[in-house]
Amino acid sequence: MELSDRARAVLDEARRAGDADVAWKEGRVFSLAYYAGPEVEQVAERAHAMYTSANGLNADAFPSLKKFQAEVVATVTDWVRGDDQAAGYRTSGGTESILMAVKAARERGRRERGVSAPNAILPASAHAAFEKACYYFGVEARRVPVRADWRADVVAMDHACDENTVLLVGSAPQYPQGVIDPIPEIAAIAARRDVNCHVDACMGGVTLAFLERSGETVAPWNLSVPGVTSISVDLHKYGYTAKGASVIVHRNRQLRSYQTFVTDNWLGGLYGSSGVLGTKSGGPMAAAWAVMRFLGDEGYLALTRSAREACLRLADGVDAIDGLAVRARPDSTLVSFGAVDTDRPVDVYAVADGLAARGWYVDRQGPPPSLHCTVNASHAATVDDFLDDLRSVVADVAAGDRRGDAGAYGTVD
Ligand SMILES: Cc1ncc(COP(=O)(O)O)c(C=O)c1O
Repeated sequence: MELSDRARAVLDEARRAGDADVAWKEGRVFSLAYYAGPEVEQVAERAHAMYTSANGLNADAFPSLKKFQAEVVATVTDWVRGDDQAAGYRTSGGTESILMAVKAARERGRRERGVSAPNAILPASAHAAFEKACYYFGVEARRVPVRADWRADVVAMDHACDENTVLLVGSAPQYPQGVIDPIPEIAAIAARRDVNCHVDACMGGVTLAFLERSGETVAPWNLSVPGVTSISVDLHKYGYTAKGASVIVHRNRQLRSYQTFVTDNWLGGLYGSSGVLGTKSGGPMAAAWAVMRFLGDEGYLALTRSAREACLRLADGVDAIDGLAVRARPDSTLVSFGAVDTDRPVDVYAVADGLAARGWYVDRQGPPPSLHCTVNASHAATVDDFLDDLRSVVADVAAGDRRGDAGAYGTVD
């Protein structure tokens, strides 16, 4: 329809508000956003717009959303090697999938074994969302230091368990250093104790599935590993779809049943819900379905290869810069790097400041102080420019002995 002047003015103002945002479509942002080109973006945006105000709260009223959810979950189940017993739900993102994994584990412990003071065994590298989930659901978060290679220390995790343990967690890969935890060993402890084992593949789920399909050897990470009871995969990351889309897949319907919430203890009738949200926009679900249909296996294979190649080029390039070292060889598409241990290590946060001044955005993290790049397909064209700038910024920072600020991964507003 033809828009009124007033509507156009409002939309112009909305557009201008984004002028200072990071340039994530140009391959200059190694965090937060993922870009697979203008056509994928259009497919996501248009499908999203069709269903923005459709409500996933009750899919009986919206068979469209039921279809999208069923097909998206089925595809992800296949990616993570779930069998015909596996059952999943779509959630609004990695955090909600993790919240649901913790809630399901707590519920299973309570109902099957009467555990009233549950704990979860988390490698120090497991995402902050587990901390949040444990806090929300009254589960003790038992953090266990990782090994020198940044992977979960399975022996220490085993020692940290007791009769109140309801969950062990491994990541594929973990966010901070980008390595895959020893999932079979973690899952074996969980199986021995008959408790849940969740694999956080929020970051890696799509990438690892397609790296395997392109012939790379990938450490065991999914439901094909005995003892893994659930796994999460974010579509709004390497699925290249609109924000607000993740999937959690449980090994079977019984395990999934512990995720859901049902009540009739009010005056409005039976209320059931699979996740944290009540009303939920159909937009992200429709966009995820459309992008996955549009890209198909071939599209994801090409995007995965391109992101992986860019990631390894970045890791090798960083390692070759005087004063810097990658923390670990990336197992998927995350690179983390810090200062080489010397008398006067370069301040990596000052390096991040220098990069920002040149229009690059990287994540700052610690301990230990490091920079983090989430590499996606849009970086294939920009990694070499980034490395040139990184080299010269590191030299400037070292020469001026400059200091920077650690920043924050998430913000409170
Ligand atoms: C390994 C891992 N798990 C979970 C999350 C949380 O995902 P979200 O920010 O979509 O809630 C992230 C986010 O980067 C992640 O890297």
